[in-house]
Amino acid sequence: MRVFVLGGTGSIGSAVVRELIRRGHHVSALARSEVSAVILNGFGATLVAGDIARPERWAGRLPHVDAIVHAACDFNTEMATIDARLLDVLLPSLAAQPKKPRFIYTGGGWLFGATGDGVATEETPFRPLPAFAWMVPQLQRILEAAEVDGIVIHPAMVYTPGGGVFVRFARDVVERNAVRVVESEEVRWPLVHSEDLANLYALALEHAPARSSYIGAATEGLAVGRIARGFAKRFGMRQLEPEIIPAHAIAAELGAWAKGYALDQWLSGAKARRDLGWRPKHLDPEAEIALLP
Ligand SMILES: NC(=O)c1ccc[n+]([C@@H]2O[C@H](COP(=O)([O-])OP(=O)(O)OC[C@H]3O[C@@H](n4cnc5c(N)ncnc54)[C@H](OP(=O)(O)O)[C@@H]3O)[C@@H](O)[C@H]2O)c1
Repeated sequence: MRVFVLGGTGSIGSAVVRELIRRGHHVSALARSEVSAVILNGFGATLVAGDIARPERWAGRLPHVDAIVHAACDFNTEMATIDARLLDVLLPSLAAQPKKPRFIYTGGGWLFGATGDGVATEETPFRPLPAFAWMVPQLQRILEAAEVDGIVIHPAMVYTPGGGVFVRFARDVVERNAVRVVESEEVRWPLVHSEDLANLYALALEHAPARSSYIGAATEGLAVGRIARGFAKRFGMRQLEPEIIPAHAIAAELGAWAKGYALDQWLSGAKARRDLGWRPKHLDPEAEIALLP
């Protein structure tokens, strides 16, 4: 398959690009800077220079593609407008492709809100974190678009043992006396290792029917205090007990979207396992933290 990836240097996109190339697909990717171009080149992707904020500059000169993966976002206050304009320009330009392409749109677990004692599945109505509410009409637009066969993946919180959503813990170990947790140690995070998630994107590209959605959660919910304590223990910190910070403090530091770190969630990845044969390999994040070098 010839696949065009937006966000190919990100937590999600970089794993997707590498996995698709490993499986023998031909990947082209949008690069908005020299640094991104070097990284994407290193993965073996072909480059399309451009920025998602200025799609009119590149959308008309895409190579022939069988599929698009959209995992680009710069988490600023304009992200809703940028994404809406991106689809305004990109979707009509895809009508010129020789064959209707597949289009994987990246949603997110935070669109389901706090689940409390319930379990969110693909059938659960959205109750999005306000900072990401704009994504719901966007993904609905992709699922209904005539120009593409739309598929949506809702990743759980994406980690590698020392990176992704764990990177704040790794930084706290170096920079502070305590690892910080937002709101409560009891808050549960659904998790997925970036390599397992990339495998799900590949399976969805290869097998998912048009208009389908999948939650990419390998671990359905793990108390965040266990993750924080895992980092503190692994790196020999004197204080194992996390410092609890309020959601508004992390929002002031990173942006309103970061309030998602306080959502207590339990997400089911059963549909992807059942319908696509997804078999995530990373099922014990705490053991991976304990083995960090
Ligand atoms: N990570 C998670 O845990 C998670 C979970 C659920 C959903 N999601 C969603 O998945 C999407 C991607 O998240 P992520 O964590 O992979 O993000 P990320 O690591 O911050 O990566 C963002 C990607 O988007 C690219 N990008 C940003 N602004 C751009 C612009 N103006 N033009 C072109 N490219 C641009 C970046 O390229 P550069 O290299 O040039 O910066 C990078 O490749 C987001 O919508 C996010 O909400 C993420």
